Amino acid sequence: MVSRDIMRSTARGFGKYYSPAINGEMRLDTNTNVLGSNPAAMRFIREQMTEINDYPSTYSDGLRSALAGLYGLGIDNFVVGNGSDEMLDVSFKTFTEWGDECLVPYPSYTLYDYFAKMNGSRVSFSDLTDDFQLDVDGIISSGAKMVIIASPNNPTGNSFRRKDIEDILTGFGGIVIVDEAYGEYSDGSMIPRVDEYENMIVLRTFSKAYAMASLRIGYAVANMDLADMMNSVKIPYSLNSLSEGAAIAAVGDQGFVERSREMVLRERPRLASGLSELGFRAYPSDSNFILAESPIDHSVLTDSLKDRGILIRDFGNKRRTENCVRFTVGTAEMNEKLLCAIRSIMEEIG
Ligand SMILES: Cc1ncc(COP(=O)(O)O)c(C=O)c1O
Repeated sequence: MVSRDIMRSTARGFGKYYSPAINGEMRLDTNTNVLGSNPAAMRFIREQMTEINDYPSTYSDGLRSALAGLYGLGIDNFVVGNGSDEMLDVSFKTFTEWGDECLVPYPSYTLYDYFAKMNGSRVSFSDLTDDFQLDVDGIISSGAKMVIIASPNNPTGNSFRRKDIEDILTGFGGIVIVDEAYGEYSDGSMIPRVDEYENMIVLRTFSKAYAMASLRIGYAVANMDLADMMNSVKIPYSLNSLSEGAAIAAVGDQGFVERSREMVLRERPRLASGLSELGFRAYPSDSNFILAESPIDHSVLTDSLKDRGILIRDFGNKRRTENCVRFTVGTAEMNEKLLCAIRSIMEEIG
C-alpha cells in the first residue's frame, strides 16, 4: 500500500466527500430543488445546444451579463465558475498566502475546511452562539486573513443578523465571504451592496433554487477590483458552454425560482410542525432544509429511512449537532411520505 506521506502534507488528513450509493431513493439529503430540473435550462439543452466545437466564453460573459441585468450591477462585478465550490477555491487562491489563517464559523458547510486546507490555510473555527448566531467580537478580533459566513447557514438553516454581518465587514481586517447558497429562500441579500465594501465577496449557486445542481454553476459578486483579481486567477473556461447557456436561460425564467421559493415557504412550517409533533426539536430555518434533533437515535433514523427509500443527512455524530439530522423541505406529498415513514419507524422500535 502506498503511504499517504506521498501526498501534500495539508491534504493527507482528508477522506472522500459524501457519496451515497443511489438507488431511486427520495432525496432529502442534499438541499436541491424538489420541484425537479429547471424547465428553461432543460429546454435550452434539448432545443438550442447546437454545437460544441469551440471553447466556451473564457469568462462566461453571456452569463455574467445576464446576472448583471438581474441584479442591476455591472458585468465586471461577477465571477462565474464550476459551482460556488470553485468560487471558494478561487477566493483562497486569489487572497490567501500559504499559512494564512482562515476563520470558519462552526457548525457550517464542511467544505470550507477542505478548501482552506487544500490551499494551505490554517483553519480556526469560531463557535456559533447557543442560538446559532455569529460570535462577532471573536471574529473581528481574530486577526485572520479571511472569514467565510454562510447566511443562511448550512446545516443550521438560519440567517445571521444583518447588523452582525455589517459589523464584521467593517471591523474585520481581511476578506469576508458571504455565502448565499440558500439566499433565494431568505431576505436581505448582500449582493446589492457589493460596491459599498472593499472586502466583501458574495457567493451564489444554481444548484439549489435554480434546480441545476448537475450542471455545476456558481458565481461570486464583489466590487469590480476584487472580481477582476478573482477572474485573473480562475481557471479560464471553467464553466462549459452547455452549463452557461442553460444558466442564461434559467436567469430569464425568474417565475420558476419564485415558485420554488413559495413552495418552500409554504411547506417548511408544515414540515417543522409535523416533526415537532413526532418529538423532534426543529430549529428555525430560512432555507430549503430543516435541522432537527431526533427523538430516536440519529443513525437508526437515517438508516431506517434509507431502508424505506428516503435519504436524509445525518449530523448526529458532530459536536453542536448531537443527534441531529437535516431534512430538505419536500413537496407536500414528499413531506407526508417522510413523516409517515418516521412514524412507522418510531412505532417499530417502540
Ligand atoms: C453553504 C453552501 N455553500 C456552497 C455549496 C456548494 O454549492 P455548489 O453546488 O454551487 O458548489 C453548498 C452545497 O451544498 C452549500 O450548502
